[in-house]
Amino acid sequence: MSAPPPVTGVGPLSPAQLRDWYAVPPEHADGTWVRGSFITTLDGRATGPDGRAGSLNEGSEGDHAVFNHLREWADVVVVGAGTARAEGYTPMAGVPLAVVSRGTLEPESLRRPDGDAGEVVFISGHGTDITAAGVLATLHDHGWRRIVLEGGPHLFGSWLRERLVNELCVTVRPVLTGGDGPLLVPPGVDLGGLLGSPTHLLTWGGDILVRTRLG
Ligand SMILES: NC(=O)c1ccc[n+]([C@@H]2O[C@H](COP(=O)([O-])OP(=O)(O)OC[C@H]3O[C@@H](n4cnc5c(N)ncnc54)[C@H](OP(=O)(O)O)[C@@H]3O)[C@@H](O)[C@H]2O)c1
Repeated sequence: MSAPPPVTGVGPLSPAQLRDWYAVPPEHADGTWVRGSFITTLDGRATGPDGRAGSLNEGSEGDHAVFNHLREWADVVVVGAGTARAEGYTPMAGVPLAVVSRGTLEPESLRRPDGDAGEVVFISGHGTDITAAGVLATLHDHGWRRIVLEGGPHLFGSWLRERLVNELCVTVRPVLTGGDGPLLVPPGVDLGGLLGSPTHLLTWGGDILVRTRLG
């Protein structure tokens, strides 16, 4: 049986509508649910011309709204250390941040400042890549099950390879950057064919927001 066509709609959405549009399927509401949260160009690039995703989502009201909604939903936000460095991540108010690295040196910007900023957990592979299953086990040790993976592509590749991403929430900006910036899925990550069935397509401003179920 073929999958039902995706639900379509037009933004802007109110906070209550966002909750409906991005609700986790009820049968998974109490379990682990991993969401990839990304923005991409039409040519699949993960960064703007300055090498940051931050420049890609400038002016995208829909991306900001969904990005923030997913953070509010999450028990934890997970990023690779490359993204934490490139995007200048700092401890976040209201939600813990897990940073994955092969190294052991926590970037200065992630040291917890005074105040009520959230916990930062540094997950190190001690010289080697950590499997997604290994990272997930550490997150479970903390009791975190609602997981938002904000990238970047290298980290995301391992989670996709291991089939541990339940869905993608991707903003497509209808622009091209060309060049040799990182792709959403790094070259060489074999996904074994086409992966994903879209459940939602939303146009918001000039952007397309896609929700795609992976597993
Ligand atoms: N478009 C988007 O939505 C989006 C989202 C996120 C990032 N980005 C962009 O993507 C670029 C970064 O790409 P990237 O692929 O280098 O990002 P990344 O995966 O965040 O960073 C790679 C680094 O993260 C650590 N890492 C990742 N996976 C690991 C694993 N399985 N085990 C151990 N360590 C792991 C390693 O850090 P160490 O070097 O410390 O060992 C590795 O060098 C930046 O320009 C950023 O702006 C775009």
